[in-house]
Amino acid sequence: MTETIPVGAQPFQSAPVHASVMHINGGKPLNGRIDIKGAKNLVTKAMVASLLGTTPSVLRNVPDISDVRVVAGLLDLHGVKISHGEHLDDLVLDPRAVEQAHMAEINAYAGDSRIPILFCGPLLHRLGEALIPDLGGCKIGSRPIDYHLAVLRSFGAKVEKLPEGIRMTAPDGLHGAKIELPYPSVGATEQVLLTSTLAEGITVLKGAAVEPEIIDLVAILQKMGAVITVQADRVIRVEGVQELKGYVHRAICDRNEAASWASAALATEGDITVGGAKQEDMMAFLNVFRKVGGGFEVMEDGIRFYQADSELHSVAIETDVHPGFMTDWQQPLVVALTKAHGMSVVHETVYENRFKFTEALVQMGANIQLYRECLGSVHCRFGERNFFHSAVIAGPTGLHGADIVVPDLRGGFSHVVAALSAQGHSTVRNVGIISRGYERFTEKLDALGADFDDDAAEVRA
Ligand code: EPZ
Repeated sequence: MTETIPVGAQPFQSAPVHASVMHINGGKPLNGRIDIKGAKNLVTKAMVASLLGTTPSVLRNVPDISDVRVVAGLLDLHGVKISHGEHLDDLVLDPRAVEQAHMAEINAYAGDSRIPILFCGPLLHRLGEALIPDLGGCKIGSRPIDYHLAVLRSFGAKVEKLPEGIRMTAPDGLHGAKIELPYPSVGATEQVLLTSTLAEGITVLKGAAVEPEIIDLVAILQKMGAVITVQADRVIRVEGVQELKGYVHRAICDRNEAASWASAALATEGDITVGGAKQEDMMAFLNVFRKVGGGFEVMEDGIRFYQADSELHSVAIETDVHPGFMTDWQQPLVVALTKAHGMSVVHETVYENRFKFTEALVQMGANIQLYRECLGSVHCRFGERNFFHSAVIAGPTGLHGADIVVPDLRGGFSHVVAALSAQGHSTVRNVGIISRGYERFTEKLDALGADFDDDAAEVRA
C-alpha cells in the first residue's frame, strides 16, 4: 500500500495562487508543448461521487486547480479523509466517516462554486439530510437550480428554504423516478446520476446531457456497482442498488483547456502541442478550428495545433449541447476571429450572458457587435428575452494593449490570449480566477515563450 500524504490534516498541496495582476507584452507567437490533466467538469463530480461508496476511492489525473481545492475542502468538512496517492495528481478519498457539516462552514468554503448542489443526493443517502448554501459560479447567466430541486423532489427529498441556503431531508428515503429535463442540463443530469444509483427502484431520465464528462461519471458509478444504461436519444436508465463501493479511475482530459490552448495558438500565430488532448472529445471544435484556418496533427499522446493558412477565415458558430460546439470553447476562439477576414457570427444558445468578455476586446481595438436576436438556426431559449446572446466579429482588426479586468473563467483566459496577441503592453487584472480551471497556467505560458510578469510574487494558497 503506498504511503499517502494526508491532505485533510494539512492544506491540500497547491500550486501558487496566481497574483491578481499580470503585465503582458504581446505580439509574440506561443510555441512549444504543454500537458493537460483531468477535466475540471468531471473531476469535481467524481470527487462528490466518492461519498456514495462504503470504501475509499482513488481518482487519478487530478489537476491542481482551485475548483478541486474547494470540493476537497467541502468533502473534508463532511468527514471525508482526503490524501494524495503515490502521485501528486492522485487523490485518495475515504468516505467511511461521513458526517454533517454546519451551513456557515459550508458557506465559507463553497465560495463561488456550484458543486455543493451535487452533494444533495449522496448526503441524503448517507445522512438523511443535506445543507446547501446559495450557489456561485461564473457570472455568465442567472445559473438557476430549479431543475436540480425538481429532480430531488421527484426522488422524495423535502426541500426547505433557509435564509442562507437550503436544507433537504429524506424522511422516507429516496426512490426511483421518471424524469424529463426541459433542457439537457449537465448539472441536472449529474444530479440524477448521483441520486438514482442508490435510490429504491428504477429511474428513467429523458432529455439527458451526454457530454464526455457525463459518460465518464457513468463509467465511475458503474465501477462502484451501479447499473446504468445510456440509451439512444438522451435517455438514461438506472436500476437502484443496495451498496456502492469505492472506485479507481483516471479522469478524462480537459477538452475545454485543450480548446483554449488551440485558440491561443491561432490567435498568436503560434504552434502548441497539447499533451493529453483527445480528438474524440473535441471533434466539433476541430472542424471549426480547421475552417478558421487552423491545422492540427493528432498524435498518440496529444494534439498539435498551429495556423495552417496564411490568413484566418470568418465562420458562423452556434454553441450547443454535446455533440455540438461547446459553449466553453467560444470565448478563446473569438479572440482569433478578430484576426479573421470577414464577418464571423457566434450564436450562444447555452448561456444568456456569455459575451461580457468582448467589452475588453473592443477596448483593445476589436470590431464586435452584440445582438438580442438569435443569429442562427439552433432552437434558442433567449430569442425573445432581451439577452445579448449573438455576436458579430468583423475582421481583420489588429489588437493593441490595454488595461483590462477578467470577468469570468473562460473570458479570463480569452483576456490573457488577447493581451498576448495584441501589439504592445497590457495589464490584465483579477487573473487569479483563471486558476479555478487552468492548472499552473502562468507556468504553461512561460513554457510557451510568453512575455509577461506577475504584479507580485506568486503566493501559496
Ligand atoms: C456545466 O455547467 C459546466 N460547469 C459549464 O462549464 C458548462 O458550460 C455547462 O455545464 C454546459 O456544458 C461544470 O461542470 C462545473 P447546465 P452547468 O446545467 O451544469 C440552465 C466552465 O467554464 N439551467 O448544463 O451549470 C442554465 O441556466 C463552465 O467550465 C437551468 O435553467 O450547466 C443554462 O442556461 C461554465 N436550471 C443551461 O441550463 C437548472 O437548474 C445549461 O446549464 C440548471 C441549468
